[in-house]
Amino acid sequence: MDGRWEIALKINKVVFPVGGLGKRFFPITRVIPKEMLGIMDKPLIHYAFEEAMAAGIEKFIFVTRHGKDSIEDYFDYMFAHSEYFDIKIGSVCYVRQNEPLGLGHAVLCAKNLIGNEPFAVISADDFILHNKSCIGEMIKRYDGSNMVAAMNVARRDVCKYGILDVDYETDELIIAKSVDEKPSIETAKSTHAIVGRYLLSHKIFNVLENLKPGAGGEIQLTDAILQMIPSHGLAGFKFEGKRFDCGSKEGLFSAILNVAKQDETLRHVMENFYRD
Ligand code: G1P
Repeated sequence: MDGRWEIALKINKVVFPVGGLGKRFFPITRVIPKEMLGIMDKPLIHYAFEEAMAAGIEKFIFVTRHGKDSIEDYFDYMFAHSEYFDIKIGSVCYVRQNEPLGLGHAVLCAKNLIGNEPFAVISADDFILHNKSCIGEMIKRYDGSNMVAAMNVARRDVCKYGILDVDYETDELIIAKSVDEKPSIETAKSTHAIVGRYLLSHKIFNVLENLKPGAGGEIQLTDAILQMIPSHGLAGFKFEGKRFDCGSKEGLFSAILNVAKQDETLRHVMENFYRD
């Protein structure tokens, strides 16, 4: 690998799609973005930001929308107190997604801020509890193929995820020959699901621009990744750690309990709760 190639593969930008409606949390998400729901004293988006920062990413792009201003206010506050919060200020941009047309559409909104380089995408409501940065671990293994984080799910849940059709597996990676967004239990090719961490070639923007709506009538990022398999491959990274779907009440509650378990004081509260 020559020097030029190594530079080309460095990932320095991350997109946070934060324009979703958070319907499963209505009514609170009518006025509070779901990404601002808290796990203890930090909102979900803060954890996602920390994960990107730990991966050495320096440019942070939020794809936001009407009603999500508190995310911008939050980071204004954090950056004003960056020393206290141990936050490195890179460059931060906010771009608007005027309509919630799907994850693929949200990523496309960041096109002009990415340019000709590979980039990361992190969905803040997919919370991963681990001492290593999931996206950082993916970047270490990035070779120019499109890459997603992948985990095994129960067969009854395949209809909630992008599902990989496995070509072959190594200890760390699942090499996919196809991928299907929210298949039925009957048609799912495996139970290996995409979790909201992506490393993508900028070439995906050309594909997204011409993509027809897919599952749920939305512009699906998975469909664009599928179209790129012949040219860019697709690797699923079997990440370490526990993932919580914090777009659901069960997932957020479970994440809070798991974080609380790691805190001496809060653990006592839980022990007392079960004793009483
Ligand atoms: C999105 C993606 C899906 C992925 C999931 C992970 O779906 O489209 O491929 O498996 O995130 O959380 P959503 O949950 O936004 O419907």
